[in-house]
Amino acid sequence: MKKIYEGKAKILYVYDNDETKLVTYFKDDATAFNGQKKGTIMQKGEFNNAISASLFKLLKSKGIESHFIEKLSEREMLVHHLKMLPVEFIVRNYTAGSLAKKMGVEEGIKLISPVVEMCFKSDELGDPFINDTYIKAFDLAKPEEVEEAKKIALAVNEILKDFFDKNGLMLVDYKLEFGVLNGKVLLADEITPDTMRLWDKVTLEKVDKDRFRRDLGGVEEAYKRVYDITSSI
Ligand code: ADP
Ligand code: CDP
Repeated sequence: MKKIYEGKAKILYVYDNDETKLVTYFKDDATAFNGQKKGTIMQKGEFNNAISASLFKLLKSKGIESHFIEKLSEREMLVHHLKMLPVEFIVRNYTAGSLAKKMGVEEGIKLISPVVEMCFKSDELGDPFINDTYIKAFDLAKPEEVEEAKKIALAVNEILKDFFDKNGLMLVDYKLEFGVLNGKVLLADEITPDTMRLWDKVTLEKVDKDRFRRDLGGVEEAYKRVYDITSSI
């Protein structure tokens, strides 16, 4: 298969000479703080491939379409090849990380309503914060595509919040990416402990990549816990 891109967490291949489909290969590599911290999380690729596949299936069962076609192997997933929006959509239900810092509050405060942030996807620039007027002014995407992506991001929030709540975890925040296929905005990339903050509802213990970012130990166990929960989908 022709490799078209290698990122921090995944490798993209064109599927079987069919440019409309991609195989995404999930690696064990882990990075944090915009690539300044690097490491490996054993079996992360397998866990994240399975977790993403299960969550995309759950969302599909609730009417939310994504790039996901099927899980091909332990580390590989077949997806539709999309024209990606160069924007990351972050949805937050509780204060954590930069939001807690920005607003001068503690982590873990429940927000009255979800916060949606947008960042320009650029490793060189450190994914800076942008808003709708930037997107329009720099022609990063069509305004209606951004509106649609935000709408989907919030619908995803209701489904994932409920799912994790029933399984003992709080969905603190997460990042989504979207792409366009035949004029339709579709959810893409991955939904994993690399891209979500999940806390144990009782102990508030972190069950996500913050264990790696903050050297808390028990990193593999955290990914395994999310894998176990989602494998019941
Ligand atoms: P990064 O690029 O941030 O290092 P990854 O290692 O996860 O992240 O790389 C995966 C890349 O694939 C991302 O740049 C993401 O935008 C892109 N991508 C995800 N899903 C699709 C898709 N369906 N079609 C095209 N590109 C995609
Ligand atoms: O709040 P903080 O700055 O620490 O993190 P953030 O970068 O704003 O991330 C908020 C949420 O989005 C977390 O769950 C991150 O894991 C996720 N995120 C991501 O997956 N990839 C990025 N490039 C940025 C954020």
